[in-house]
Amino acid sequence: MTISAGILGATGYTGAELIRLLYAHPEVKIAYCSSRQHNGRKVSDILEFLKGTYEAVLEEFDAESITTRCDAVFSCLPHGASMGYISRIVPGVRVIDLSADFRIKDPATYSLWYAEHGYHDLLDSAVYGLSEVYREQIKSAQLVANPGCYPTSVLLPLVPLLESNLIDPYGIIVDSKSGVSGAGRGLSLKTHICEVGESFSAYKVGRAHRHIPEMEQELTRAAKKSITMDFIPHLLPITRGMLSTIYLRTTRSEKELRECLKRYYETSPFVNILSDSFPSTKDVRGTNRCIIALAKVEPTDRVVIVSVIDNLTKGASGQAVQNMNIMFGFDENAGLDSIPLFP
Ligand SMILES: NC(=O)c1ccc[n+]([C@@H]2O[C@H](COP(=O)([O-])OP(=O)(O)OC[C@H]3O[C@@H](n4cnc5c(N)ncnc54)[C@H](OP(=O)(O)O)[C@@H]3O)[C@@H](O)[C@H]2O)c1
Repeated sequence: MTISAGILGATGYTGAELIRLLYAHPEVKIAYCSSRQHNGRKVSDILEFLKGTYEAVLEEFDAESITTRCDAVFSCLPHGASMGYISRIVPGVRVIDLSADFRIKDPATYSLWYAEHGYHDLLDSAVYGLSEVYREQIKSAQLVANPGCYPTSVLLPLVPLLESNLIDPYGIIVDSKSGVSGAGRGLSLKTHICEVGESFSAYKVGRAHRHIPEMEQELTRAAKKSITMDFIPHLLPITRGMLSTIYLRTTRSEKELRECLKRYYETSPFVNILSDSFPSTKDVRGTNRCIIALAKVEPTDRVVIVSVIDNLTKGASGQAVQNMNIMFGFDENAGLDSIPLFP
C-alpha cells in the first residue's frame, strides 16, 4: 500500500528533513507541501539542495484539499500556530504534530509555559509520540504529538530505568547540548555563525526551558511519583546533533541498569545500548538512531548516562516518520534504515 503525505511548513528545517526522508520512503508519495510566505513557488527554489530531485510547487493551507489528497499530514509549524491548523484537518486525516502543542496533557501546565490552549478535546485525544514507549497507542492514534528533541534524548534512557524502579527518581540532573539547527531556520543573531562558531554556551539556565514540563510529565508517569529535574541546555557550534549527559543515583550495579535498557529495547531497531564505549553525535548524524551508554562512578552511588541523537531525525522528522510507519502498519524502519553520514 502506498499512502499520500502532506507537510505543513515544508520550508523549515524539520520540513526539509521530512522531504529528504519521505522522498526515499518505499510506501509514501509526498502529495502536498505548504508554505505561507512562498506558496506558488517551487520548494526547490527555497530549499535549493532539492533541485533535480523533489521540485513540487508549494501551496497555501487549504483544509479541504489536504483532507482529500492526504492520508497522513506532518505539521512542522511553530508551537501556538500548529494547533489551529491541525484543528481544521483532524479527524479528516491522521496527523503527526512536530510542535509542542499537543505534548503536555494538562492545559494549565501548557498555558504556564506556552500560551492558552484552545483545543482541549484534541489535546485529550493526542498520543505522545515517543515511539518505543507508546507504540501500542500510536497504532490507532488520529493525532500524534511528536516529542521534543531534548526530551527524546533524555526519556529514552530514563523511562525504562524508572519504570523498573532501578534508580532514585529524585535529584536527576540533565546537561544537554544541541546543534544549532534545533533553533529552526529563521534568522536570529543568537544562531549567527559569528556568534555560535568556535564557542560553547549554556542557555535558559534554571527552570527556564520549555522542554522541562514535557520531560517531567513523562518521568512522573514512568516512576509513578511526582518528579522534578534539573535541566541545563547548551548550544554546540555544530549543525546537527544532540548529546545529553544525565547524572543520577542508584544502589544497583552498572550491569543491572545496562541489562534493563537492553531488554527494554530488544525489539526496537533504533535504540542501541553500548557496553564498552561512549557515543558521539557523529555516530547518529542523519539517522533515526539513539545510542546510549552508562557508567557507575565507583565507589559512589552515582551513575552517568550519555545519550546521543540527531535532533532533526530521531529528535524530530525521523521519529515522526517512525510514528507514521507504526500508524499505517509499515515496517517500523521503512525509509529510515540508514548508516550515519561520515565523516
Ligand atoms: N529544529 C529542530 O531540531 C526541532 C526538533 C523537534 C521539534 N521541532 C519543532 O518542529 C517545529 C518546526 O521546527 P523547525 O525547526 O522546522 O522550524 P523552522 O525552520 O522555523 O520552520 C517552521 C516553518 O513554519 C512556517 N511558519 C512559521 N510561522 C508560521 C505561522 N505562524 N503560521 C504558519 N506557518 C508558519 C514557516 O514557513 P513559511 O513562512 O514558508 O510558511 C517555517 O518554514 C517547531 O514547532 C519546533 O519546535 C524542531
